Amino acid sequence: MASGFARSWRAAGRSSGGGRLMGVGGLCASLLAVLLIAGFLMEWNELLFRPTPPQIKSLSSFSSSDFGILGVPWCRPKNGRKVPWTHADLVQGLQEFVPIYKTRPIKNNRFGMGFDHSFGLWFIARWIQPDLLIESGAFKGHSTWVLRQAMPTKPIISITPRHPEKYLQKGPAYVDSNCKYLAGKNFVDFGNVNWNDLMDEFGIKDRSKVLVFFDDHQNEMRRFQQAIHAGFSHLVFEDNYDTGTGDHYSLRQICDQPLVKGGGHSCSAMSKEGRLRATRQEKWEKAVDIKELCGPAGEWWGVRGEVRDNFNHSFEQITQEQHLENFMLIESHLDLYWELPPVAAPSLTQQSRYDPARTTYPIIRGNETALFDQLGLGNLDKVLFNGYTQMVYLKVFP
Ligand SMILES: C[S@@+](CC[C@H](N)C(=O)[O-])C[C@H]1O[C@@H](n2cnc3c(N)ncnc32)[C@H](O)[C@@H]1O
Repeated sequence: MASGFARSWRAAGRSSGGGRLMGVGGLCASLLAVLLIAGFLMEWNELLFRPTPPQIKSLSSFSSSDFGILGVPWCRPKNGRKVPWTHADLVQGLQEFVPIYKTRPIKNNRFGMGFDHSFGLWFIARWIQPDLLIESGAFKGHSTWVLRQAMPTKPIISITPRHPEKYLQKGPAYVDSNCKYLAGKNFVDFGNVNWNDLMDEFGIKDRSKVLVFFDDHQNEMRRFQQAIHAGFSHLVFEDNYDTGTGDHYSLRQICDQPLVKGGGHSCSAMSKEGRLRATRQEKWEKAVDIKELCGPAGEWWGVRGEVRDNFNHSFEQITQEQHLENFMLIESHLDLYWELPPVAAPSLTQQSRYDPARTTYPIIRGNETALFDQLGLGNLDKVLFNGYTQMVYLKVFP
């Protein structure tokens, strides 16, 4: 399926032990054999012990059994910039957030955010200190409540087809008094909002002081372009589904490219990746094996070669070249890319949905039971840790 162009990009992204062997043709057979074995071991090692992405390298002082062993693709900011916050900031954030989270009005937010992403959104919003928060996709209002906890006095614009007050008739919901709702009969899709008028209404002169949060299950490539077009630069995407999964095309899927470390896939069930994937499904609900990952002609990108959109209500087949073009467009605007790590290791949370083989190391490692309990995380219902889907924060150049 790959064009010559895509293949040359792929080649450019690889540096394997095998390539280096090309220059040793004149050496004796025994030296060649040694190098061949070394090359094989290096490649195997590369797959099994793939380094964590640079932004969390400092956290990897002790290892967990399988975090990231199937690769953690990510988009690369042009200048190699990394987020300013550290592991210690995240732990400190958890310490502050857990007691806040315990006061949430919607205790059961099934189909909405669980603990990990609630923390991530709160942490990012607090760090960025925007003058205005915009959310697309509010459901019963839990994420509006999280944004409010992060920024007690700043205005929020919430874009969602059904007004959260409608849910109040049936049970807990959250309606914010300093929030403009583009909901119900006033609903306008994010892509059709007249941002000039709305920014004037809120007195926003500098759109880099706005944080936009998407949890609306729309094609994230389209949302990204709409946000850039509107001049926003701080974006959070809640459901950043892994390749082969989910109901909309995600940043994680777009960043999954053969030229990126941890990205690209082999569709052979007998490959190292194929064999490793086959072992993951028994334990992890969201793990996909090669049969699920790849379409009939080896289309592994998006979901079996499709761009899914609008809660799976629409989908479109794309070529690998189009998928690569999407990636290049994203990267050309990228200043920062940061996937929230899972809050804690599955051995602590008992979560069994996301496969750690495709994620970065968690904030709280498996051997940090005391810290997990000290932070009050042990008292939370285990089901609250089941919703992790690699929430991502991007800073972009409009
Ligand atoms: C997963 S829920 C959001 C959960 C919420 N953020 C939370 O954490 O509780 C997705 C929401 O997106 C809304 N939605 C659907 N299409 C949308 C669109 N085009 N723009 C904004 N929201 C949309 C749905 O009605 C639903 O309320």
